[in-house]
Amino acid sequence: ATIHDQKLQRGAGGELHQFAEDGMPVLTTAQGGPVSDDQNTLRLGARGPALIDDFHFREKIFHFDHERIPERVVHARGYGAHGYFETYESLAAYTRADLFQRPGEKTPAFVRFSTVAGSKGSFDLARDVRGFAVKLYTQQGNWDLVGNNIPVFFIQDAIKFPDVIHSVKPEPDKEFPQAQSAHDNFWDFITLTPESMHMIMWVMSDRAIPRSFRFMEGFGVHTFRFVNAADESTFVKFHWKPKLGLQSVAWNEAVKINGADPDFHRRDLWQSIQAGNFPEWELCVQLFDQDFADTFDFDILDPTKIIPEEILPVKPIGRLVLDRMPENFFAETEQVAFMTQNVPPGIDFSNDPLLQGRNFSYLDTQLKRLGGPNFTHLPINAPKCPFHNFQQDGHMAMRNPVGRVNYQPNSWNQGPRESPVQGYRHFAAEEQGPKVRLRPESFADHYSQARQFYISQTPPEQRHIAAALTFELSKVETPVIRERMVSHLMNIDETLASKVGHALGFKSMPKPADAAMPTRQDLEPSPALSIIER
Ligand code: HEM
Repeated sequence: ATIHDQKLQRGAGGELHQFAEDGMPVLTTAQGGPVSDDQNTLRLGARGPALIDDFHFREKIFHFDHERIPERVVHARGYGAHGYFETYESLAAYTRADLFQRPGEKTPAFVRFSTVAGSKGSFDLARDVRGFAVKLYTQQGNWDLVGNNIPVFFIQDAIKFPDVIHSVKPEPDKEFPQAQSAHDNFWDFITLTPESMHMIMWVMSDRAIPRSFRFMEGFGVHTFRFVNAADESTFVKFHWKPKLGLQSVAWNEAVKINGADPDFHRRDLWQSIQAGNFPEWELCVQLFDQDFADTFDFDILDPTKIIPEEILPVKPIGRLVLDRMPENFFAETEQVAFMTQNVPPGIDFSNDPLLQGRNFSYLDTQLKRLGGPNFTHLPINAPKCPFHNFQQDGHMAMRNPVGRVNYQPNSWNQGPRESPVQGYRHFAAEEQGPKVRLRPESFADHYSQARQFYISQTPPEQRHIAAALTFELSKVETPVIRERMVSHLMNIDETLASKVGHALGFKSMPKPADAAMPTRQDLEPSPALSIIER
């Protein structure tokens, strides 16, 4: 046999495998053409100009030039892992979702943890909310529980999302500060948006600097619905409880870690999973009905409120285990597309106005971020159950209907059919009312739960909150914004307000903020400002 022959082998399917002189597979172009020289461009003479004939060079550079896709508009920095969810007991009384019918049932899962505000290249220990997005590949299609590690949110209505995010991202003229919340625009928006006060207390607490992803809680935040086979609905709030317990770092530790190892959280997840220490969370639910909801002064549709666990304990319904890292970060963690609207039969939405808006936003943003309508063809986003539909074509289509039929009804007795029995039925909630843009009165109390959160903290945790507020507000250059924030704190806890006020150099306290939405936007010094040392 010639040397040439030894380097060719037929595979099981008759395909030709080509090996280089050292026995490694031959480098090829994306079109499969074997490459002879990957070190030099094709030139006219060794010192001459490059030639446009060099298709290998052109293809290689073209592909490199297009490697980047837009980072997520929020939650850009994230890290994911595969695993499974195991159901503890049948929840058939509450939901017809297939994954909750049989004890011991295992559902494949992919989870992506993230920070919200920083860019893709930012550091892990930022003071920030953490995303806790879970994709469960159920037998009735994907269920995405796109949650955070804080159970409430900054805003009550999705129409304010661009505003809160613009305010926390770097200022548009300067493109700094990168460091999360510590700047005028963020605190300006927050202090003009009192509904954010409960969330702000959590963000200023140790919850916002977790020790690692493995020590974080997760929350679905909104009230959702379980719907059973008889089409009866039960409200449900979702909680993830880490088996390792909840742990955070202190602020001075966070600052040092960010400097020494900006990848601290992703490294921790990678190392623990590679070492076989698989992190685990219990999925817990709070289940309740409308009568129970009516016992509260606040509205269960308001995403700035929690239902205290002392009043309604959480019930563990299954466990999530992460036991495998992605093989390729980009293919899986970067291209995964979570969407709140991905729910299987038996899980439904409430009228929470933040959730309703999210249900539009995620599909819309994936279209842009992942470059077209076929991102469900990517393995990480494809369902792991059988699926059939007539969707076709579009950029990068990898699955098209086979055969003649790509519509229904059809006379050829071909293709999939809708099923009123098996298919998704929306809960037939009774709805009526005038078409209005109006915040309900039941969403008006912005301080009670912020106060409850603060007083539920231990003394060291309370000191950390005061220190965080002082640090953050000391970075705010516009005095009236500092004053506004302290006037909100007066409504939350006067001792906290005075601690922060004095640390910021206030000689006396401003009046408590007007609990109604302050529309005051002037930056003229207020009478109270004359008593602030600058
Ligand atoms: C991304 C959670 C509110 C729009 C994310 C991610 C999480 C998350 C965890 C990252 C997903 C991933 O890892 O890929 C939440 C929570 C919210 C909330 C818990 C409130 C309770 C909103 C609202 C909107 C919104 C109100 C818009 C109206 C987005 C967008 C992305 C995103 C556009 C980027 C998605 C992507 O490019 O893949 N959110 N979010 N979010 N969120 Fe939210």
